[in-house]
Amino acid sequence: MGSVLQLTDVSVVRDGNRILDRVSWEVQPTDRWVILGPNGAGKTTLLQVVSASIHPSEGEAVLLGETLGKIDVFDLRPRIGFASSALARRIPADESVLDVVLTAAYSVTGRWNETYEDVDIRRARRVLAEWKLDHLAERRFGNLSDGEQKRVQIARSVMTDPELLLLDEPAASLDLGAREELVQLLGNYARSTEAPAMVMVTHHVEEIPPGFTHALLIADARVRAAGAIEDVITEPHLSEAFGLPLQVERSDDGRFTARAA
Ligand SMILES: Nc1ncnc2c1ncn2[C@@H]1O[C@H](COP(=O)(O)OP(=O)(O)OP(=O)(O)O)[C@@H](O)[C@H]1O
Ligand SMILES: [Mg+2]
Repeated sequence: MGSVLQLTDVSVVRDGNRILDRVSWEVQPTDRWVILGPNGAGKTTLLQVVSASIHPSEGEAVLLGETLGKIDVFDLRPRIGFASSALARRIPADESVLDVVLTAAYSVTGRWNETYEDVDIRRARRVLAEWKLDHLAERRFGNLSDGEQKRVQIARSVMTDPELLLLDEPAASLDLGAREELVQLLGNYARSTEAPAMVMVTHHVEEIPPGFTHALLIADARVRAAGAIEDVITEPHLSEAFGLPLQVERSDDGRFTARAA
């Protein structure tokens, strides 16, 4: 199989501003990418392009072998798993956890009159177990803790067995224990040969799960560095992207830390 995604000089223009500026980027099926960059850099916009949610204003985006603009995005979207806080806000608070995951099979939020096959229900329960949520299957989504809600969103995003998994700040707002639990689950998933290509946006190098292989740094709408994680998550690159001198360390288990130098 070829590249999972290939962007060539992709720009996105909004209100006359280039919020993505000539981004070129390629992801292979076994890659696990982390995207880092300051607030407003364009990270979420980039995920919107590669989830087929928006089209580039300029340039070419090929997703899973299909060129955006030449195919029906409704055929493409079920092949891409996407978890973000914007999507989570559309989940009804009174929906059961099982239904939150199950409804992904129809690309909807909020169960209505769809009928689900036993095979879908079995898969939803298996996915819940993988993300340590089986004991919460009958609970209402709105009553879960932030950490539990984040895991439900990820479980939902892998329900359709996607070929590309996109996570926009999956660890945002989590406490230390919940963050560590999620980093460990994501790390295990990243190392599994069954897992799809992964792209995760984060603000903190501490949240990069071991097993992630590549990194893309973006600042002011432009890619500042992209490639193997050890070549990108470095003091010079991070200091330049975030605009202050940073001290960056990596421990033997693959975890990173960063602080002002
Ligand atoms: N639809 C839009 N119209 C106009 N400007 C937009 C639109 N969407 C995003 N922007 C602007 O584009 C820039 C990039 O936004 P984006 O959400 O991609 O940043 P981000 O890197 O995800 O930031 P954060 O880390 O805060 O989530 C921001 O300045 C934002 O205000
Ligand atoms: Mg964002």
